[in-house]
Amino acid sequence: MTAVGWGKIILLGEHAVVYGYPALAAALDRGVTMDAVPTTKGGMRLNIPAWNVTVKADDDSQLARCLCAVADALSIGRPELSLVGDAQIPHGAGLGSSAALAVAIARAMLGWAKRPTDAATLAHAAHASETLVHGKPSGVDVALAITGGLGVFRKATGLSPLKRVDGTLPSLRVLVGPSGQPRSTGTMVKKVAEATGERPADKRLSELGKLCDTGTSALLASDLSALGEAMNRAHEVLTDLGVSTTMLDELCAKARELGAHGAKLTGAGGGGAVIALAPRDKEQDILTAWKAAGVVGFIATLGAR
Ligand code: MEV
Repeated sequence: MTAVGWGKIILLGEHAVVYGYPALAAALDRGVTMDAVPTTKGGMRLNIPAWNVTVKADDDSQLARCLCAVADALSIGRPELSLVGDAQIPHGAGLGSSAALAVAIARAMLGWAKRPTDAATLAHAAHASETLVHGKPSGVDVALAITGGLGVFRKATGLSPLKRVDGTLPSLRVLVGPSGQPRSTGTMVKKVAEATGERPADKRLSELGKLCDTGTSALLASDLSALGEAMNRAHEVLTDLGVSTTMLDELCAKARELGAHGAKLTGAGGGGAVIALAPRDKEQDILTAWKAAGVVGFIATLGAR
């Protein structure tokens, strides 16, 4: 059976989540899919035509090391196995592609080995790969890649799906704009570490944590204007931490100018993607303006469907 790892967006709380603050985040309805095809020669390898990726386990590349990290965490060895994937999200665009890939590989390997694909085993394997990519991952990308959904993630307690007191699940439409600017999550996490001296008490980190709480309450109350305001302020704080770019600022400003409730960078920044929350009748205008700026955005439906 085809294995999957979901892509994700972070609505509020990126970077601060590394220091123990909450992050409001959701899986996308797309990600990375993977099939494990037994072969007779050529060793263990990974092939993802959508990303133009062909990697052998013994190659000297980061993707090969990630493949081996997952295999080692699962004690799979180096079987004659071809992992053939497809991707519906761009690589390295701030949409959780590396975690989605690691989870899809782990699921496919476990399926091939006829072993259980429980969340703890998947998280252990994907975390080994994410540590190579990011250095110090909070685990939010991996948690969403495994379970999907919309929730609040904390390093200490993991992902709690968001539910209203009456038991209903909130849902949300968000515009996603992959800027096409390449970036490295590890580099951005290091930049924030330098800016804050790795002190969780840093005022900007604690404000990002508070904005996450405010935005979560707003989402539960279906108050999109308050959620948008929290997103706008979070973008300013992330800019102050040095992880935005002129292009991300411009894409967000354009979305706000055209009527978005709020817009911000999502994920590590330094490139990657922006998100915007907009009334339905403004969505197409924003997508058209982004397209004129060279960004092909899309609408993601998050949460209850
Ligand atoms: C990356 O998607 C989100 C960051 O907060 C890093 C992490 O949580 O591991 C920047």
